[in-house]
Amino acid sequence: MEPVTLTTERLVLRAPADPDVEAIERACQDPEIPRWTTVPSPYTREHAVSFIEMVAKGWAEDHEYVWAIRADGTLVGMIGLHDVTPNVDGAHAEIGYWMVPEARGRGYLGEAARAVVDWAFADRGLVRLGWRAVAGNIPSARTARSLGFRYEGLQRLALTGPRGRDDGWFAGILATDDRTPQDWPVL
Ligand SMILES: CC(C)(COP(=O)(O)OP(=O)(O)OC[C@H]1O[C@@H](n2cnc3c(N)ncnc32)[C@H](O)[C@@H]1OP(=O)(O)O)[C@@H](O)C(=O)NCCC(=O)NCCS
Repeated sequence: MEPVTLTTERLVLRAPADPDVEAIERACQDPEIPRWTTVPSPYTREHAVSFIEMVAKGWAEDHEYVWAIRADGTLVGMIGLHDVTPNVDGAHAEIGYWMVPEARGRGYLGEAARAVVDWAFADRGLVRLGWRAVAGNIPSARTARSLGFRYEGLQRLALTGPRGRDDGWFAGILATDDRTPQDWPVL
């Protein structure tokens, strides 16, 4: 499909494009991003260029939907629905995100993620969204819980990335779920 733009009270979510290369390269120098995600480290301009190409392909092929999050025109983070997997009864996907360090702690991520979850269920008709994180990623887990994701367990050494293997926390939300935050035993 053509990339979709989402707008919230403070934010505009739009697929990242060539003018965002520098901002993405700069953001991904923060060690917290490769620590908790599969973003490469060291992160170069070439990584940002190929990321933008991959995002364009993901939209075109309905394989993943990724948005740059902008506040007052500045790129403050990235959010995406990955591994969109169709089935006879509808598709599921997995949510992922990072924020630039200076923009954290302002609730931007929750605001952006709520718009993405609404779009996924109401507009794109997904039946399930999954979430996974390296065990111990409290800020990411708190965000997922606040969106209504339900904790589904820990899988030992299930996550692979440039760092090696990590235990993973897993959670999910269904289109039919009540989004009221539930207790997570690890939080
Ligand atoms: C995860 C991340 C995107 C959260 O962004 P953020 O702007 O801090 O998000 P928020 O300010 O909305 O905070 C999210 C929640 O985490 C909590 N939190 C934030 N930093 C925290 C910390 N250091 N310790 C404990 N809780 C923390 C907030 O209080 C909030 O919880 P609440 O909604 O229950 O109040 C950001 O920390 C990040 O980019 N981390 C590196 C990349 C990453 O981990 N991505 C996710 C991979 S699964």
